[in-house]
Amino acid sequence: MLRSVFLYLSRQRWLRSMILNIGLARQASRRFVAGETAEEALEVVRQLNQRNILATMDHLGEDVNSEAEARRARDDYLYLLDLIQKSGVTSHVSLKLTQFGLDVSGELCRELVASVIEKAAQVGTFVRIDMEGSPHTARTLAVYREMRKKYTNVGIVLQAYLYRTVDDVRQLVDEGIANIRLCKGAYKEPATIAFPKKADVDANMVKLAQYLLSNSYAYLAMATHDEKIIQATRQWATRYRLPKDCFEFQMLYGIRRDLQQQLADEGYRMRVYVPYGTEWYPYFMRRLAERPANVWFILSNLFKP
Ligand code: FDA
Repeated sequence: MLRSVFLYLSRQRWLRSMILNIGLARQASRRFVAGETAEEALEVVRQLNQRNILATMDHLGEDVNSEAEARRARDDYLYLLDLIQKSGVTSHVSLKLTQFGLDVSGELCRELVASVIEKAAQVGTFVRIDMEGSPHTARTLAVYREMRKKYTNVGIVLQAYLYRTVDDVRQLVDEGIANIRLCKGAYKEPATIAFPKKADVDANMVKLAQYLLSNSYAYLAMATHDEKIIQATRQWATRYRLPKDCFEFQMLYGIRRDLQQQLADEGYRMRVYVPYGTEWYPYFMRRLAERPANVWFILSNLFKP
């Protein structure tokens, strides 16, 4: 119930502009957002790298509805890639296609994303295309397939809550382009297209992960904080004697820092998603939706004497 409320609120533009201007809310967002500027986020990445943790940086933004905004997003990412190169930190980047104008023009979006992937290749890094709500799934996969015709330094995200994902995973494996971040899925989807029960989503995630791990041409980035699923992934990898560096775990900045460090210390590849920027509202609301108890935690911290 609360999950639905937060996910509904995450899409309300009027609330977005109101909340973004409230100082206290900005302060609260820092629980999950590394800062408002690329430089602040880079400092967080530097500290992660020192603790043997990799990163993927995300300049927050989504659902843009003009070409100018989409071009600005591209410029922001080119600037970020320059910074990554100059600073010498180890980081990938993650981006959302609706931030690059997917809803304005598919052609524009492909042009802009291609220039970011191209620049990332020059810098020697990698671009992960996030997956958004189901109205964008097919178009996001289409853009990914097109990018893979020319570039290898790009991967996609698939969501275990969607029924279609099992087919998407198989097809990408068959096409030889299965570089997949697998997550549960963070949007509100109807039961006609997504498992309504958490237990089914979890079971599907484990099944998909095992399928990807058993395929030597696929690369799995297992994006979860769920200890049971992490344990199942580790057990599978151990049972089939898979080297620790043939897949990776991913988690979000600000969530389960202890577990992030533990996996890195055990020699697993651990990558943290580091979001930053002023457009944090929908991202922040999705984090609250995942765990409504965060609201009380944040409020109590804000009002601590
Ligand atoms: P689950 O929700 O079952 O949580 C397991 C445990 O993790 C909880 O008991 C709690 O301890 C902790 N936890 C989880 N969420 C928390 C929160 N918000 N605050 C505090 N603790 C929390 N989704 C998507 O649709 N498209 C995408 O592109 C991405 N990208 C992405 C990248 C990375 C690196 C990660 C880790 C996740 C995503 N997601 C995503 C989000 C994902 O779909 C999912 O909503 C969250 O990861 C929460 O699900 P868990 O797998 O952690 O399990």
